[in-house]
Amino acid sequence: MSLQFGPDYVRAIAPYQGGKPIAEVAREFGLDEAKIIKLASNENPLGMPESAKQAMLKAVADIGRYPDANGFDLKQAITAKYDVPQEWITLGNGSNDILELAAHAFVQPGQSVVYAQYSFAVYALATQAVGGRAIVVAARDYGHDLDAMAKAIDKDTKLVFIANPNNPTGTFLPAADIEAFLKKVPQDVVVVLDEAYNEYLAPEQQYDSVAWVRQYPNLLVSRTMSKAYGLAGLRVGFGIAQPAITDLLNRIRQPFNVNSMAQAAAVAALNDTAFLQKSAKLNADGYRQLTTAFDAMGIEYVPSYGNFVLFKVGNDDGAGARVNVALLKRGIIVRPVGNYGLPQWIRVSIGLPEENEAFIGALKQVLA
Ligand SMILES: Cc1ncc(COP(=O)(O)O)c(C=O)c1O
Repeated sequence: MSLQFGPDYVRAIAPYQGGKPIAEVAREFGLDEAKIIKLASNENPLGMPESAKQAMLKAVADIGRYPDANGFDLKQAITAKYDVPQEWITLGNGSNDILELAAHAFVQPGQSVVYAQYSFAVYALATQAVGGRAIVVAARDYGHDLDAMAKAIDKDTKLVFIANPNNPTGTFLPAADIEAFLKKVPQDVVVVLDEAYNEYLAPEQQYDSVAWVRQYPNLLVSRTMSKAYGLAGLRVGFGIAQPAITDLLNRIRQPFNVNSMAQAAAVAALNDTAFLQKSAKLNADGYRQLTTAFDAMGIEYVPSYGNFVLFKVGNDDGAGARVNVALLKRGIIVRPVGNYGLPQWIRVSIGLPEENEAFIGALKQVLA
């Protein structure tokens, strides 16, 4: 008999499937790495801001020392930007870390976690990792059905995950809907409002989630430096919540979960509003470029508020995987979303204008 370790609920986990790395696609398909275009992981096509790069290079000199375990400078920058005390901030190794910390801090085996169908894959993983029971609420128009989610909260529910905008569908919940939801949630249920794509929202869609944190002690807002700030490879995110939540997250996080270079780069990036504006503008233009092409090609897509678009490539359940491989052969990496229960769809991240153009050209060939 072969040895088995750990609890059943850990063995049942299907590992996270990320976007394929460029080097792997080059090897697999015999392509030149330099010619491959990756639009698979919702990264910033501009790369990192120059300000962050300079800050990192400076931080290299001190790399023999441990990072500041409390991340004072980075928390200062967040404090200045969001007007919250340092005691309300948890730093994470990417915002993924914040999501996992929340599951570890608040959910015991057998207790339930509520999240939406087609919402970010890590909610399921974080729930499973702690032996939680997932209550997956059917999506409405590919987005969160907050009324149904409020009703789905059970006696043993400890945590709710909401992504706004949502990945992989790009859907958006207006502020009034979220506020109405927060009013309905029992006070002892923690709500994680995951705003990984917040910086891409147009000014008229922006809302003040930190004001809700002041009002609702059970709310944890999660943000990332991986998307609009262009620091995905460094792994920095943060949570904002009142001390009753933040104190617990900080007890169980690794003491040095955000490394020195990441802390330095994040401070610079947070203060680099010019880069943020440039990223948002590039994204809005790219969204128009892609959706104009989809419209012209008669391709159905879900209107997106993030830096990616979910579009439909066929009516059979092999379509997403098939079109994905055909695009890979042409050196274009996108994200098939069969693992999300969307086998007829593909998610494409918004790239530079020439990358979007190359993707559209390849897609036309593949679908012809
Ligand atoms: C909705 C959402 N939340 C969180 C994350 C995690 O990103 P990171 O760990 O890089 O901050 C992602 C990444 O794709 C995401 O799409």
